[in-house]
Amino acid sequence: MNSNQKRILVTGGAGYIGSHACKALAAAGYTPITYDNLVYGHPWAVKWGPLEKGDILDRTRLDEVITTYRPEAVMHFAAYAYVGESVENPGKYYRNNVTGALTLLEVMRDHRIDKFIFSSTCATYGVPKEMPISEDHSQFPINPYGNSKLMVEQILKDFHLAHGIRSISLRYFNAAGADADSEIGEKHDPETHLIPLILDAATGKRSHITIFGDDYDTPDGTCIRDYIHVTDIAAAHILALEKLGSQDGACAYNLGNGKGFSVKEVIDTARKVTECDIPTQIGLRRAGDPPRLVGDSTRIRNELGWEPVFSDLTSIIETAWKWHNNRDT
Ligand code: UFG
Repeated sequence: MNSNQKRILVTGGAGYIGSHACKALAAAGYTPITYDNLVYGHPWAVKWGPLEKGDILDRTRLDEVITTYRPEAVMHFAAYAYVGESVENPGKYYRNNVTGALTLLEVMRDHRIDKFIFSSTCATYGVPKEMPISEDHSQFPINPYGNSKLMVEQILKDFHLAHGIRSISLRYFNAAGADADSEIGEKHDPETHLIPLILDAATGKRSHITIFGDDYDTPDGTCIRDYIHVTDIAAAHILALEKLGSQDGACAYNLGNGKGFSVKEVIDTARKVTECDIPTQIGLRRAGDPPRLVGDSTRIRNELGWEPVFSDLTSIIETAWKWHNNRDT
């Protein structure tokens, strides 16, 4: 570890988005310290700094790691993120996502670390009333996962007032794609996300992809989402970190491309990219899926100068496909 480099604690740094943030941090001259309990994270995804195994609910372990590395800021990715599971087992989500974040923030307060970047989600908006969704849209989540993230956003406002912790919450739309060098990428167990499942159907690992409902009020009847490349999400974290050097407060930004694609459009694009036949079946609607989610990210473009590099669906799927074929894990 280069002792002159600024150290950033990255909870969940062994996960999909967290590991891409670690790569971006290293490229920007920081040392990412990954703090991950490895329940869903992968040791192979930690390549740009030390891995410290630990749980965000474990105050003693957090204290130890922070005492060792003295990070100047925290990026908090560690969370459970299965919407369906959160409905069935809300306690698991509130304990980990809310109590875990609270524990982390209290340890930060005690160590006088005052910069925090939080992985929030478009799921905090609930069923949208206007499209595209701006940050000023009302927030009424429709599942415990979204509620848990919104609660942390609220805690951050209170911790700013009481303890001076400045924060930026980034509300991601649908994270997708993989590192363009294929060093890291998306691998969940169980996998529930659309693009990796489509790619499994392309390689024959799965027999088909089930489309969850084709009777929505959208042009082709399937759900529309705003897919955003994971490397563009990671880049936004670096901009947010730099902004926190001068900006006080607890604020939030959307992170999306502002373009919606239906499930059928994603499958058609994947057919072109992979040149594979991708068998589909029409299934039932999945509970809790809004028909259309598209974000307005004007605020982060204007205030932080964020500009997505992989803003078209083809390049998002191309990077995912390259990773999908190269990964040996
Ligand atoms: N879908 C299918 N078949 C599948 C899997 C997904 O048709 O086998 C559809 C879904 O119904 C949805 C779209 O593909 O319309 C995208 O689904 P994902 O599961 O990939 O992503 P979600 O939109 O459900 O979830 C994402 C994040 C969550 C976040 C949520 C906010 O992964 O963490 O957006 O709505 F909470």
